[in-house]
Amino acid sequence: MHYQTITYANITLSLSDDLMGLFHVSSASLPLPPGPAGLPLVGSALHFIGPFSRSPHAVLTGLAQTYGPIMSFRPGMAGDFVVVSSPAAAREALAENDAALGARFVPDVAHALAHSSESVFFLPNSSALWRRHRAVVGAHLSSGLSLGRTSHVRDRHARRLAENVRARSGTPVAVGVAVLGAVLDVVSNIAFSEDVAGARVQGGQMFKELIVAVLQDWTKPNVSDAFPFLAPVDLLGSRHRVSRGLMKLYKFFDDEFVERRLLSSCDHERHGDLLDVVLERHAKSELTRSEITKFFTDIFLASSNTSRITVEWAMALLLKHQDKMEKVQDELAENLGCKDFVEEHDLHKLPYLHAVIKETLRLQPPAPLLPRKVVTGDMSLGGFAVPVGTYVLVNLWAIGRDPAVWPDPEVFLPERFLGDQAANFRGLDDFAYKPFGAGRRVCPGLDFATRLVPLLLASLLHRVQWRLPSGMAPEDVDLRDRGSMVLELATPLQAVPVSTHQ
Ligand code: HEM
Repeated sequence: MHYQTITYANITLSLSDDLMGLFHVSSASLPLPPGPAGLPLVGSALHFIGPFSRSPHAVLTGLAQTYGPIMSFRPGMAGDFVVVSSPAAAREALAENDAALGARFVPDVAHALAHSSESVFFLPNSSALWRRHRAVVGAHLSSGLSLGRTSHVRDRHARRLAENVRARSGTPVAVGVAVLGAVLDVVSNIAFSEDVAGARVQGGQMFKELIVAVLQDWTKPNVSDAFPFLAPVDLLGSRHRVSRGLMKLYKFFDDEFVERRLLSSCDHERHGDLLDVVLERHAKSELTRSEITKFFTDIFLASSNTSRITVEWAMALLLKHQDKMEKVQDELAENLGCKDFVEEHDLHKLPYLHAVIKETLRLQPPAPLLPRKVVTGDMSLGGFAVPVGTYVLVNLWAIGRDPAVWPDPEVFLPERFLGDQAANFRGLDDFAYKPFGAGRRVCPGLDFATRLVPLLLASLLHRVQWRLPSGMAPEDVDLRDRGSMVLELATPLQAVPVSTHQ
């Protein structure tokens, strides 16, 4: 049903484009989008930081109900933000103004150790290094060819995850922690042919814990972002902690790099992994040592949290909705029968499992606000001026719950993604559903994630019954989120696996 709505929206938009072409109006003469006035100086920052703050995506969704799908606001003194909260406005921003939105919002923590200056997340589209980094991910991590070559790595670690969970039959498991370990080991084996989740970094901390600690500060709303003049003081200590964490990650990746380079100068052994590829580029002076360590840091930060969060939310939603849990487990039993472990080539037999993941990403997109920055003049959205330097946030969380597009938007209903309604993450017209973003900055790990995430979820569920810890009923599963820039459960999910595998 929502396709029909989008088609009307598209027609309306393209008609209005044609009219705009006939009577071209400079955006300078257009009004700015409406929005809350905010207190002088403090702007709208109090919505996000402080004792009364709520999740940024939820606050902005509420404000959009008053001010409309294209709304402006000023969080403190950070500059002007425009928030986009409908599929039609998202299409106008991400498809028609993709080039104008050629940079990102760079939070204060990303300046730690000058990380943003060489980071695939934060470099603008005009940067040659950004293009080189994306080309490496596109060709060697997420292309059809590289995914085919690495399916055995995903299968091996998915199986290990299933074995670990089955071995703990009858005892509560922290679902997110178990999944994170699997994701990190998959990525590290593809990156440099080793397991890292349980490895120790400088200072004795486990790699897995270090990643969690860095991401915690990385994604938390920060007073330094709302009031940049306070950034040197680093009131919350976020930049300081992120610097310490990044230093350990850089050292860890740099050691890998040095070790392999020293080895390869003796025996020219090739491992067929990502490190071989970047070392080749280093040899041709296309990537520096510092760019390589930052590249690996970004890949681990980008892949681990998003994939782990998606599986954890899916499990929480299934435990809360036992009828859907039954359906997905029936599908696994019917299609995989007595097979011990799920493998990637089984996934095409599991449409309901895929629908569960799509529905999870609609309700709880791990990156709910796409943060872009306008780099060229004369941009407009919906007849409002969006001047150069403005930050544009596309609110995927609001769009995924837009009642004009999604019937019963608050209901967890995987069935909406079955059959004809099976949305495609890349659908050019479907701006009601973009959990991986869109345009030039679309997630380069999309094809990788859409193989890994279903495989991990299926591995948790196949031949394992899940119960809630004693005393908890399905309605007690807490679906509130932590209130950060990344959408994760406020209460990490604990559940008890009961293995049915003999
Ligand atoms: C369920 C899993 C994932 C989700 C939901 C997700 C979502 C996203 C979103 C929404 C963006 C921003 C896109 C935009 O601005 O239009 C993004 C960017 C990015 N993602 Fe993912 N992602 C996932 C997994 C991964 C994986 C597995 C990798 C790496 C292998 C990855 C690497 C990246 C990188 C490097 C960027 C920055 C791209 C740029 O700014 O040019 N992601 N992701």
